[in-house]
Amino acid sequence: MASFRDRSIVSIRDMSLDDLKKIVQTTEKVKKGELEGFLKGRTVATLFFEPSTRTRLSFESAVFKSGGSVFGIANPSASSQSKGESFADSIRTVSGYCDVMVIRHPVEGAARMASELIDIPVINAGDGANQHPTQTFLDLFTINEQFGRMNDLRIGMMGDLKYGRTVHSLTHALAMFGNELTFISPPTLRMPGQILQELDGLHIPYTTMENLEDARNSALDILYVTRIQKERFGDPQEYEKVAGTYRLTRETIGLLGEELRIMHPLPRVDEIAEEVDTTSNAIYFIQAHNGIPTRQALLGLVTGGLE
Ligand code: CP
Repeated sequence: MASFRDRSIVSIRDMSLDDLKKIVQTTEKVKKGELEGFLKGRTVATLFFEPSTRTRLSFESAVFKSGGSVFGIANPSASSQSKGESFADSIRTVSGYCDVMVIRHPVEGAARMASELIDIPVINAGDGANQHPTQTFLDLFTINEQFGRMNDLRIGMMGDLKYGRTVHSLTHALAMFGNELTFISPPTLRMPGQILQELDGLHIPYTTMENLEDARNSALDILYVTRIQKERFGDPQEYEKVAGTYRLTRETIGLLGEELRIMHPLPRVDEIAEEVDTTSNAIYFIQAHNGIPTRQALLGLVTGGLE
């Protein structure tokens, strides 16, 4: 396992199985309250060039809870980017103000580019439809918390598998651990071929289907639901063709099995009916709250505050 100290976290593809286990184990200790104050004297910048509620606010809360300081950009129109400053100039400048930079950007590869421009660690908080590694860390932690393992599970992913960066990152991680995957999407929003080829190369069993009802015999442990990413469609008419394709209700859960756990990176639009929230199957708010100890752990590891 490579040390996390001073390391940029850009893609799950850069990580080993031991790296992922280390993040989950450290998160467990943080959540139990065994590790505290490890960001004292550290400053984190959160630069969000795309909207966010959970990722930005849980990073900021994570810094406060661990004794560090945080500042950032939540609205790019209030930064000098609106005067025409380049992304590279903004990044180089802010790197002199902080010890770690957390970046969300609509362009795929933006976090990688930033990590190559500056000498402090960059954490990718989502780059276009590409990757969202810290979401995957909290997803893995939540799965381990619920099942006591991150392997040998049957996991369905449903919704926008083409543009959903959370499912791209998570698929790679679940394949590394060894799980069986079921992909449920409209034909136009299938998991990208490159990711399916990676699964083939790793001999990971997977099935693709269009209708959730067809998964009734799949004995799924988890259904990971995603929003159809309206903002990624070039043509609004193409979005309208698939909007509202799926809607998970109590009745559908009954078809899939009483033990099914339902995850969602959130935000949700209409793909999970609110009546599902009060079932024991729904764990998406637990999942969202696990973003805090997970991001505390990650920041502690990259700053050297945690070993
Ligand atoms: N899951 C997630 O990335 O949520 P936000 O877009 O609210 O940060």
